[in-house]
Amino acid sequence: MTKAIEGFKPDFLWGGATAANQVEGAFDEDGKGLSTADMVPFIPKSKRGMNMAMDVTAEYIEDVLAGKTEDVFPKRFGVNFYHTYKEDIALFAELGFKVFRLSINWSRIFPNGDDAQPNEAGLEFYENVFKELKKYNIEPLVTLSHYETPLALTRKYNGWYSREVIDFYTNYAKTVFTRYKDYVKYWLTFNEINVITHSPYTGGGILIDKLPEKTSDQIAYQAAHHQFVASALATKLAHEIIPDVQVGCMLARMQTYPVTNHPDDILKAQEHNDLNLFFTDVHAKGEYPAYMDRYFAENNIVVNKEEGDDEILKNHPVDFISFSYYMSISVTTQGDQEKTEGNLVEGAVKNQYLESSDWGWQIDPKGLRVTLRDFHNRYNKPLFVVENGLGAYDKVEEDGSIHDPYRIDYLRKHIEQMKEAVKDGVDLMGYTAWGPIDLVSFSTSEMSKRYGFIYVDQDDEGNGTLKRSKKDSFNWYKNVIATNGEEL
Ligand code: BG6
Repeated sequence: MTKAIEGFKPDFLWGGATAANQVEGAFDEDGKGLSTADMVPFIPKSKRGMNMAMDVTAEYIEDVLAGKTEDVFPKRFGVNFYHTYKEDIALFAELGFKVFRLSINWSRIFPNGDDAQPNEAGLEFYENVFKELKKYNIEPLVTLSHYETPLALTRKYNGWYSREVIDFYTNYAKTVFTRYKDYVKYWLTFNEINVITHSPYTGGGILIDKLPEKTSDQIAYQAAHHQFVASALATKLAHEIIPDVQVGCMLARMQTYPVTNHPDDILKAQEHNDLNLFFTDVHAKGEYPAYMDRYFAENNIVVNKEEGDDEILKNHPVDFISFSYYMSISVTTQGDQEKTEGNLVEGAVKNQYLESSDWGWQIDPKGLRVTLRDFHNRYNKPLFVVENGLGAYDKVEEDGSIHDPYRIDYLRKHIEQMKEAVKDGVDLMGYTAWGPIDLVSFSTSEMSKRYGFIYVDQDDEGNGTLKRSKKDSFNWYKNVIATNGEEL
């Protein structure tokens, strides 16, 4: 008789996840070029209305470069990880991390994206980081592109809208695979690849105001095609260059529920899920799903493919599927309902059964189990939860302690559901909590939206000592890892 699975496998990869532009700082040091993230200003909530501050225009970029603005750019200073990586990695080691997810800032390696030669100082920086991780037996999980397109590619080619960028990306991938082949065996090609349809600037370094004659969807799906081809070519290269490598895709999973059992709602939710899973379908199955033909036709979207593209996609699917999971989404066709806020979720309806974070993201641990089971059934590939966590305001007490039971509660409930999914038979490689150390928020560029087990003394404008201190969640997560998720 087959024995039921009881918990996480012994080599389960526990850890935390970051992105270069949200932690490193040092935006103009050691030969780094500017990246798209360096141009995103901090806009106080009172001035930005909703919680989104991700897109910029071509005109704004030129103004910034001409020194015409006083704006603050938090992704330029991050939390100084570029200079504190040894201290920070020591804290990750104390937490017991088995894996640390980070991204390479492409513009550190190729300052303009299309340079003939890489920047040695940039290559050295990441090599040092990998050496430091190795000291503690922490596996790096590296994202090649996490919302950090070299700005020069944006200005010269309009980012991923241009097919030429595929070659620059594969050259970059080849360079880092070759250089780090002895250090890194887990790679992700693009962070949240589907974000390109929500924010073409963030996901693809594209200025849609330069293409006024085209719809945002037309631009985004064409650019996504270029990224799919680039991702497949990078997967091919990784398999050729690095022994035992595992390459994954990365999706911002938006598990969508119907609000009612009206068949129209069921269909609407299914369509919503398909549009989200389209990205993992291409990555994992190596071909465009048929349901997109109708979507493209009805929305006047034409994706130009070159001869050979389909073979490239077919021949080089990813080895595993990774994703971020923060919340679920509800949709309905049935009249006006109260809406909810949140990253990328326009028009989503408030789920009356769920609580919301301070930023309006609806907290749904069971949705993670649903997501894992769905992925498993759809792809039958290993899965990796590479982002999950709670962005919250933290208070430092007079004695310096930081009590964050809300964060522990959020993480505990999600890990519990992850364990249930494992018991359901899902093949799960690991879990990297988002922002193990406080970092600059992607969507709002705030510092006050904190995810960390480690507090960083810095405010939204970049004032502070940058001192690191442990929150209550630090010891809690340390014990979760030490007991392989048995004690939550
Ligand atoms: C994901 C991104 O969308 O969510 C991260 O991959 C991001 O870069 C994270 O930081 C949390 O979002 P936010 O907007 O709270 O920082």
